[in-house]
Amino acid sequence: MLKKILTILPAILFMAGLVYAETDPLQAWSKEELTTIRSLSLASLPPLPKDPSNAYAADPKAAEFGKKLFFDKRFSANKKVSCATCHIPAISFTDRLALAKGMGRTTRRTMPLIGSAYNAWFFWDGRKDSLWSQAIGPIESSVEHGFTRSMCAHLILDKYRTEYEAIFGSLPKIDHASCPPKASPGTGNPAAARLWNSMKPADRDSVNRIYANIGKALAAYVSRILPQPSAFDKYVEAVAANDPGTAAKIMGRDAVEGLRLFIGRAKCINCHNGPLFTNSSFHHVGLDSPDRGRAEGIPKVLADEFNCLGRYSDAKPEQCLELRFIDRDLKKYEGTFKTPTLRNTAERPPYMHAGQLKSLRDVLRFYRMSASRETDHPDLEDEDLLKLEAFLRTLSSPLSQP
Ligand code: HEC
Ligand code: HEC
Repeated sequence: MLKKILTILPAILFMAGLVYAETDPLQAWSKEELTTIRSLSLASLPPLPKDPSNAYAADPKAAEFGKKLFFDKRFSANKKVSCATCHIPAISFTDRLALAKGMGRTTRRTMPLIGSAYNAWFFWDGRKDSLWSQAIGPIESSVEHGFTRSMCAHLILDKYRTEYEAIFGSLPKIDHASCPPKASPGTGNPAAARLWNSMKPADRDSVNRIYANIGKALAAYVSRILPQPSAFDKYVEAVAANDPGTAAKIMGRDAVEGLRLFIGRAKCINCHNGPLFTNSSFHHVGLDSPDRGRAEGIPKVLADEFNCLGRYSDAKPEQCLELRFIDRDLKKYEGTFKTPTLRNTAERPPYMHAGQLKSLRDVLRFYRMSASRETDHPDLEDEDLLKLEAFLRTLSSPLSQP
């Protein structure tokens, strides 16, 4: 008899566990698990980090000015492209395209702008080390805005003089003779570079300073685009308040079990962690892609004239810790990309750096199949994938935007 009970004991305990979980799934969180899920909640999001390289990051006037620039299509060769062409506010500042489209088609997918200022590195490959230096990148890209920094300077002088001067001080004197609109060292066009090199160093410096300040205003705006509490955050709040009734109403059983997988057996939290669900670091998840990712981003950020240590940064060199202590191991970073935030992820297919995967289901199937040097989740069943998906869907919320 005793032997019989002992053999079926695991089954009894298992059933009891199920009943227990059925009646009160919330009590099933251990103390450590609770600490973990709280670390993912927006309530744990620290205040916006300061950017010592941008003296205007916290200036509301700069943010207001940046917002105008963000939506202004005149900063493009065909007067049809603004930042908002690809970063559409209603869909977490993305465009639902696999590869972004401006003046031409880019080779990567548009990234969402959600709490971007919490990152140390920007773009999929981290080739920029500040939001302001990032913001001026697309302007001179031939496939994005197709514009030049000199055209930017002229546009500011013509259309935004008062607003610019109220924030950044007097504009320098430049005209079309001292600064030909097509002059630029950053477009990859040799004629534009020759024109740029024919300009006086002081005029080049003036243009660069206006250009950097445009970036600083854009960054002040973009840094204010933040997530608001989603169903998941409200669930954590209810669990923390010991209110299982409310918690169960907010998140269904599948989503709760998906959360358990996310922080446990599926190991997603190894990279998608913190309140923005990203470790802001670079990884290879096993996608087959010709893109070298971070291996190209490292030399680019080190050589960038607009980096933290450069002439147009407001930081003291000792404040540029990330850049000074950057890991230069290119081999380690070959084919790696920045871990994207999972906030609002359900709202913005397709997925991955070149939009390779169409749906969340495809992403989860991919994770199960792929064994990269950093991910390996072979033991996920079909229903586990459905649960993970249900959980990912609880991370959506409207953004707060100035
Ligand atoms: C043609 C479409 C397009 C336009 C126009 C565009 N972007 Fe982007 N944006 C992208 C793409 C694509 C990426 C990722 C590029 C990469 O990794 O190489 C990106 C990345 C970013 C990022 C990085 C986010 C992160 O987490 O690293 C920010 C910030 C950003 N863009 C802001 C802007 C601003 C500000 C403007 C206007 C000056 C702008 N973008 C114009 C498509 C665009
Ligand atoms: C080793 C780090 C790592 C682990 C572990 C990991 N991810 Fe990712 N995740 C990434 C990186 C990096 C990308 C972008 C990859 C790319 O584009 O090449 C990504 C992309 C995604 C995307 C697409 C988001 C977008 O906007 O394109 C989703 C969704 C996602 N991961 C969910 C998960 C889930 C669910 C798990 C657990 C099963 C998981 N990840 C495990 C690092 C990781």
